[in-house]
Amino acid sequence: AVRKAVIAGNWKMNKTSAEAKELITAIAPLVKDAGCDVVACVPYVDIATAIEAAKGTNIKIGAENCHWAVSGAFTGEISAEMLKACGVEYVITGHSERRTYFGDTDVTVQKRTRAALDAGLTVIVCVGEYLEQREQGITDELVAMQTKIALGGVTEEELKRIIIAYEPVWAIGTGKTATAEQANEVCAVIRATVKSLYGEKAAEGITVQYGGSMNAGNAAELLAQPDVDGGLIGGASLKPNDFAAIVDAAT
Ligand code: G3H
Repeated sequence: AVRKAVIAGNWKMNKTSAEAKELITAIAPLVKDAGCDVVACVPYVDIATAIEAAKGTNIKIGAENCHWAVSGAFTGEISAEMLKACGVEYVITGHSERRTYFGDTDVTVQKRTRAALDAGLTVIVCVGEYLEQREQGITDELVAMQTKIALGGVTEEELKRIIIAYEPVWAIGTGKTATAEQANEVCAVIRATVKSLYGEKAAEGITVQYGGSMNAGNAAELLAQPDVDGGLIGGASLKPNDFAAIVDAAT
């Protein structure tokens, strides 16, 4: 890729805070010379420990979701403002697991993204198709629409704090990776969508990640694609050596 890559781990619902400290401590020396940005998106309860463990390292800490309101009667939820106040720098919005299991829609993803930008966070917005949608041949339109809706109301200045992660749902946690060509093709569609909204310069500047069973073995080929600027890593982000190998492949 031509842009500086961003490799972000998404730990999902894994690791207690004691384990989070161990994992960050294990990853840190392995990625200290990274030529890409390195992020770990961790469960809410691990944030404080992870930030402490990442002090003095090049690992930045993110959250996996945020609510769209600043505060209020939303039992069990966490706002972007609260995350920012903890020292969080990144947040994921629109992950397919949030969309599939917790009712997130393109509209709520837009609202969460707005709240995260307002709080000063960098947002990793996830888009991607289900297998049936790919088979129906609607991947490009669908991903373009998800991207457009998520970016509704986002200014060109704010776009600098947006990363889009293309995650084909059929490739997540399945061991079934998109081919490098498939990944590049859809990442290019996302870039073209950004171009249609913000122009060439913004499109050339935006980071578009691929996610879905990226691992130490396939990362180099995926990351060598011109429109793939990094990865959003699930399973392999929990294994220090595998995660470090992906970071190396992006460097
Ligand atoms: O956010 C990360 C993705 O859902 C990918 O997960 O690497 O376990 O397939 P995976």
